[in-house]
Amino acid sequence: MERGFLGTLPLGDERDDDSYLDFVEGVRVFTQTQVAAKVREVIPDKLTEFEQRTGRKPQTIADARAALDPVPVVASRNRLMRSSQEMMWRQVVETYRKREKELLAELDRYDRLGPGSVEYDPNFQYPDYYARVEFHIQPGNYHADPLAGYIYHYGTKVFYTGRNNHDDVQREWVNLAPVPADGKVARILDQACSAGQSTTALKERFPQAEVWGIDIAAPMVRYAHKRAVDMGLEVHFAQRAAEDTKFPDNWFDLVYSRIFFHEIPLTAAEQVIRETYRILRPGGLYVIVDFANRPPGLSSPVDDYFRDFDTHDNGEPYASDFVYSDFLGMLRRAGFRIVSENATPQLYQPMRVCAK
Ligand SMILES: C[S@@+](CC[C@H](N)C(=O)[O-])C[C@H]1O[C@@H](n2cnc3c(N)ncnc32)[C@H](O)[C@@H]1O
Repeated sequence: MERGFLGTLPLGDERDDDSYLDFVEGVRVFTQTQVAAKVREVIPDKLTEFEQRTGRKPQTIADARAALDPVPVVASRNRLMRSSQEMMWRQVVETYRKREKELLAELDRYDRLGPGSVEYDPNFQYPDYYARVEFHIQPGNYHADPLAGYIYHYGTKVFYTGRNNHDDVQREWVNLAPVPADGKVARILDQACSAGQSTTALKERFPQAEVWGIDIAAPMVRYAHKRAVDMGLEVHFAQRAAEDTKFPDNWFDLVYSRIFFHEIPLTAAEQVIRETYRILRPGGLYVIVDFANRPPGLSSPVDDYFRDFDTHDNGEPYASDFVYSDFLGMLRRAGFRIVSENATPQLYQPMRVCAK
């Protein structure tokens, strides 16, 4: 039975499924507020105990693990984060799986509908660094389950604990993005667009511009296109690797990239940056929102311990490498001028603005 939508998100198959996912959302809120507060309370004592035991202050992530992993409230926090993620994916997959035939037929039908367009290649060869990972432990990753777009979108609803039911997060970031100094924004690329939530926000902000969203995963661009059609927005989606976009030189005025780089290895990141430099026109802007970078050893081992959770426990194998990389150096070496290291008040996920 058609159960309607929450924003642009199709609800699950049964009320019972959505109610289970609402419970999981509640577990995340509880973990991030009440449990996290308790964790913060016990940390100073546990670091002192470590120092008394070893005769030195904790200096590395390994030290922080030795000090904190055995503490019941910290272990509970880590377990709740991991288990709520597993519960979320299991239920989201199950609820859409019950409607698989109908949803696949829907995608087939929307492939041919406008406004906008979608292109993908059933024989696309995914790079190994991507195909062998289930990012943030999403079963089948973004590419191997044809319903991945639906699944990811519902996952992000739970992940953002109700703060993103109407693409609020993507819209907020897109609205903070600066424009090139000459004001010309005729062509925009959303790099690694996923479910297309930033892409549609870009089209809403720049209705006159030709807006493209590319992602390496076919199920994501198909679902992104379906969403954009439902929203009546003319956006073009294509399955392309950000390392090899097929666009002409100097093509885009603005390339936008949100929470993408921490999901690829640094070698791929170098290629993506070089390719972006090629397709951006002189004076165009490359706007990148992602985790903050910090030189290893400069932040506290406890901060590093919690930062490393994604890589250690949440299926994000490249996230820590990205955090500790010289990302701005990589951008500079490709020819970009860093206009701003953080164009927003956000410290956790800064917005880097680079000009060609
Ligand atoms: C966290 S999601 C991006 C979220 C999205 N930008 C937003 O604002 O909602 C990361 C996306 O990167 C895509 N991706 C990973 N490697 C890629 C590559 N080499 N080229 C293009 N897309 C890639 C994944 O398929 C996934 O959809």
